[in-house]
Amino acid sequence: MIKQVCCIGAGYVGGPTMSVFADKCKDINFNVVDVNADRIAAWNSKDLSKLPIFEPGLDEIVKRCRGKNLTFSTEVHKCISEADIIFISVNTPTKTKGIGAGKASDLKWVESCARQISEHARGYTIVVEKSTLPVRTGEVIKDILDSSQSSLNSKKKNSFDILSNPEFLAEGTAIDDLENPDRILIGGSNENAIKVLHDLYKRWVSEEKIIHTNLWSSELAKLTANAFLAQRLSSINSISALCEVTGADVREVSRAIGKDRRIGSKFLNVGPGFGGSCFKKDILNLVYLANHFGLPEVADFWESVVYLNSWNQDRLTRIILEKLFGTLTEKKIGILGFSFKANTNDTRESPAIQICKNLLNEGAFLKIHDPKVSQKQIALDLGIPSIEECLNEENLNKKNKDKKWEKSLLRNDFFENLDAVVVLTEWSIYSDIDWGKVSKKMRSPGWVFDTRLIVDEEKVINSGLCFWRVGVGTLKRN
Ligand code: NAD
Ligand code: UDX
Repeated sequence: MIKQVCCIGAGYVGGPTMSVFADKCKDINFNVVDVNADRIAAWNSKDLSKLPIFEPGLDEIVKRCRGKNLTFSTEVHKCISEADIIFISVNTPTKTKGIGAGKASDLKWVESCARQISEHARGYTIVVEKSTLPVRTGEVIKDILDSSQSSLNSKKKNSFDILSNPEFLAEGTAIDDLENPDRILIGGSNENAIKVLHDLYKRWVSEEKIIHTNLWSSELAKLTANAFLAQRLSSINSISALCEVTGADVREVSRAIGKDRRIGSKFLNVGPGFGGSCFKKDILNLVYLANHFGLPEVADFWESVVYLNSWNQDRLTRIILEKLFGTLTEKKIGILGFSFKANTNDTRESPAIQICKNLLNEGAFLKIHDPKVSQKQIALDLGIPSIEECLNEENLNKKNKDKKWEKSLLRNDFFENLDAVVVLTEWSIYSDIDWGKVSKKMRSPGWVFDTRLIVDEEKVINSGLCFWRVGVGTLKRN
């Protein structure tokens, strides 16, 4: 009988995943632990708007379960020692130095978890890889766990089974993805351990969606899923560039190809390029593995997906530069959206970072707005001391409690004297901007660049502003 579950890592995966588990399995305690005391304090904050992660619906679940069968603490050793199942949900970023730097995953946090588990776990424990890991990491974890037991006498020996259970949630829709997953993947070799995890998920996921594989297939399937998704985005973004110069419209092309059931209609929205903590890191990991196993052609194929993505971000900068008469020196540009996608406060690998850095390099002055990303985070990402004029919902609420966002923006003169506005994240509020009012504030000729295809072309053009948008050939409009 499973009574205690421990999750190491209270991040974007550990926090929401365990919250949904706790909500669905009220008779089991879920203890989420992390070495980052600030993050844990934020998970425990009374004001639910202060949770460290913004995900629609997450606050409600935390409210229901926290303090009952869901805890957040820094008591890593204690929670490990009490656990029947331990999820490893720590960060696995790309290595920044040493062999494999820039491509291979840095597994130091995973190794540290394995060592802590080997020291503090008691009795029989199922260890679950929730983090995204290179193929055969399960072997490393098992070696660490087993090696610590060999010196103990048989009475004190503990035993472990390792499972791989990668997480497929996407940020911004994490709660829905967790409550209604397309599939649950459980990789491993011990039937009993697989059954225990299977039975937990079975409480809310139908059994035909729970897939069992061997450990290595499960680890590789996660990397492959992300690589396929990212490859789709590089494919459509490459076609969008072709649309712009040929007079085609990428939305029409997407619709036409998406009707083919073999291709499908999802994940075909063009944009400034994919961001987020996973796609680039996981493809580079795949590239490293392919090279490691002597498959350089496979490695090159996947690396081109990442190359195309960076090229796309630089391409957008070049277009902005060209439209603004070839120089950005002293020009004021308003950036709308800094998170890597809408409905998250996460900025990891956000295309906005590279594009803003490029614009700053060209001498532009930036005003940046995002509803959920803090000024501090933006300054950190851009490597600058502070962002004086960055506005976010928190600031606006402080100054202007009862007014709508757009009015607040106008009141705060966000658009005053701007030469251009660049929409980088598809927050829905950016679709409702009153361009008639905005155009009166901007310098002429004012430009609007829409990299997400969410702005109403007619409204912008009617307001007298110049308009450019991704993936739509200008020939068509002439
Ligand atoms: P994150 O950086 O948000 O959180 C990881 C947390 O682990 C941090 O708070 C860190 O302090 C903690 N940690 C690290 N080592 C620790 C240790 N030894 N003991 C206790 N705490 C420790 O990372 P994330 O976005 O939640 O991603 C976690 C894993 O899940 C990664 O492998 C990632 O690739 C994968 N993943 C992420 C997403 C996503 O949308 N973010 C989706 C699917 C899978
Ligand atoms: C991704 C995977 O979708 C998820 O299964 C995995 O567990 C973690 O990595 P995430 O990065 O959170 O999730 O978000 P996702 O919706 O995949 O978007 C990734 C990037 O692609 C974002 O920058 C987004 O704006 C971009 N994107 C997505 C597009 O440009 N067009 C699309 O059609 C979809």
